[in-house]
Amino acid sequence: MPHSQVGIFALGEASQAHFELDVLSDEHAKRLVEALVELERPHSTVSGVNLVVGFRPSLWARLAPSGHAVQAHDFNREIAGAGGYAMPATQHDAWLWFTGPSYDVIFDEARDAIKTLRGLASVAREVSGWAYRHSRDLTGFEDGTANPSLLEAPEVTCIPDGEPGAGSCIVLLQQWRHNMEAFDELDEAAQERVIGRTKMESQELEEADMPADSHVARTELHDESGAELPIFRRSVPYGNVGGHGLMFVGFAREQKRLDRMLLNMAGAGGPRDALTYFSTPLSGSYYVVPSTEALLALSSNQRQV
Ligand code: HEM
Repeated sequence: MPHSQVGIFALGEASQAHFELDVLSDEHAKRLVEALVELERPHSTVSGVNLVVGFRPSLWARLAPSGHAVQAHDFNREIAGAGGYAMPATQHDAWLWFTGPSYDVIFDEARDAIKTLRGLASVAREVSGWAYRHSRDLTGFEDGTANPSLLEAPEVTCIPDGEPGAGSCIVLLQQWRHNMEAFDELDEAAQERVIGRTKMESQELEEADMPADSHVARTELHDESGAELPIFRRSVPYGNVGGHGLMFVGFAREQKRLDRMLLNMAGAGGPRDALTYFSTPLSGSYYVVPSTEALLALSSNQRQV
């Protein structure tokens, strides 16, 4: 049975760093993929730092080993919503995600990794994040309450056994910048109507009190039979007093769930998510996060397990 990269599920880490990379030229693409695979080995085992790697879907489609291709599209077009509102498309070639107990160890590991990749890729975006009041967003609301438990998360996150790309998954990475001054002007009840949950206890609002434009109402998805279509979120606050927000990190086994949530938030076919009046997306990329078997199949350093 194929396995997903374990760092996806390493909850409780206090510190994170995200790097989005652009390959220097097309000839370097294969070597970049191989170099990232080799990075996974030492970094994920000896330093106490988890490393997860992902690739631009169209790049992975070209370079995936046989049987590990994944049906997914790049984030190449902005998400257009109501009244001219749009979320930007800023797709890059690869994603490196470090999580660990503190930023010092992440800094050392990330610096080494970026040095190793010099000559193959440039850093297009770097965002370091930190846990805020355990697992709250900077708005003060708990983030991740509706996530599936760790027992269910792999099923929600990974392409199931028997399907092409089994064990791999798709991640949406989106940097949001908050307008905290505007959000702070709302009283607590109004903030709760924006999110769709209570602030302190993170209780979902009763159906009768749930505004149609609340964040929960716009992102909770169901299939035709009424069953929920969840994703697994590992978002993290980032920034400093002068500029801050949320690095949204959402994993799914089906990209269409993520596409649908973005369209709903943007106000396509319904009200625009109230949260989008208080936070602005600065970026948007999708990456295929290959299974460990797919990464091992690309490794020049193969070893029997
Ligand atoms: C400014 C950016 C965002 C902030 C501050 C934010 C914050 C939150 C908060 C506080 C909750 C309620 C607690 C919880 O269940 O975690 C929530 C729920 C959720 N968010 Fe977000 N979120 C953001 C962006 C996104 C994006 C871009 C997506 C998907 C594309 C998304 C998908 C979801 C989902 C699926 C839920 C659970 C809904 C349910 O109850 O089933 N969020 N978010």
